[in-house]
Amino acid sequence: MNYALIMAGGIGSRFWPKSRIDAPKQFLSFFEDKTLLQNTIDRIRPIIPVERIIVSTNADYVDIVKEQIPDIPLENIVGEPVAKNTAPCIAFAASFIHYRDPEATMVVLPSDHFIQNEDAFLKDLELSARIAEEKNRLVTIGITPTRPETGYGYIQYNDENTISFNGDTAYPVKTFAEKPDVQTALKFLQSGDFLWNSGMFIWRTERVLEEIKKHLPVLHHQVEILHQHLSDNDGNISRDVLHSVYHSCFSVSIDYGIMEKSEDVVVVPSHFHWSDLGSWMAIYELQKDQGDEDGNILNSQNILTVKSQNCYVSSANRKLIALVGLQGIGLIETDDAMLICKLDSSQNVKEVYDKLEERD
Ligand code: GDD
Ligand code: MG
Repeated sequence: MNYALIMAGGIGSRFWPKSRIDAPKQFLSFFEDKTLLQNTIDRIRPIIPVERIIVSTNADYVDIVKEQIPDIPLENIVGEPVAKNTAPCIAFAASFIHYRDPEATMVVLPSDHFIQNEDAFLKDLELSARIAEEKNRLVTIGITPTRPETGYGYIQYNDENTISFNGDTAYPVKTFAEKPDVQTALKFLQSGDFLWNSGMFIWRTERVLEEIKKHLPVLHHQVEILHQHLSDNDGNISRDVLHSVYHSCFSVSIDYGIMEKSEDVVVVPSHFHWSDLGSWMAIYELQKDQGDEDGNILNSQNILTVKSQNCYVSSANRKLIALVGLQGIGLIETDDAMLICKLDSSQNVKEVYDKLEERD
């Protein structure tokens, strides 16, 4: 595996008010100094040098990427003129990488996850790369599911025709179901032979481009236009051509566009701890061991609690805050906005964002 694509074009509306149009989730830090994007890149630096890491994001966020990853070559930042979801992002990056090295294997990584046990993560990636390279398969990394989450993809795996290297095993994928409804998710969870899709993929660029040709021919036509342009321009992409290919393709995720349709997918079960940081509740859960004796996570000395348990308070101000008689509440305050929610409803924070958009 010699190239990485980091997808960093999402808006992360469930983290309002901390995430905004001008500062989406992947560019924020939740636990430490480093942002999620910086962590994502630092995690793979031991195996892929920054010269071979591509970051794809919205054109409006290119300056944030430059600022957060100062050593990334500018030609490795793709500024998308319009967001078309992950299939076009992956297809165009695969074409760009394929132009540089037709034999390349790439790992595709979302930039909005939290991962613990980085050595295990790198080991899983190495196994995935070996399968992608030696068996020419599409590889995804699976996570053991713990709840009937409807925001993820579900992967049903097969116990036959498994692939093992050095004692670690990968399984052929029987079914890939993106974002099922809650009854279906529950059925998958109970059946015991499903994993969550982590959204991390490993494949040879040539192989994924073949699948795109088969399942997303309109997108593949744009890929060919981009490839021709790269050949004619010494590997440089003009803004006009990028604009034209992006505007000519449909918006579709790789999960619906390729993973649900392809018959040649293999899943590597993960050996690391993973959270997709989907909500304020997820942020609270990851830190709750470090909370006070009532399980409260408070980000400053200026917050007092009385008879309150399992609350999460993050304030950017020096204002004194007191919580009395509250359980499971999130209070997130930035310079110009405040969110108060039940943590177990924090998935719905996205609707605040939608309402604000309607108002503008
Ligand atoms: N460049 C670019 N352009 N990046 C994008 C775009 C886009 O138009 N849209 C999303 N991304 C980035 C996001 O920033 C994120 O890092 C990644 O691509 C995945 O997109 P999400 O929008 O966060 O996808 P999801 O969380 O709904 O679903 C995916 O991830 C789940 C696990 O977290 C799917 O792969 C699911 O199957 C999976 O379970
Ligand atoms: Mg996501």
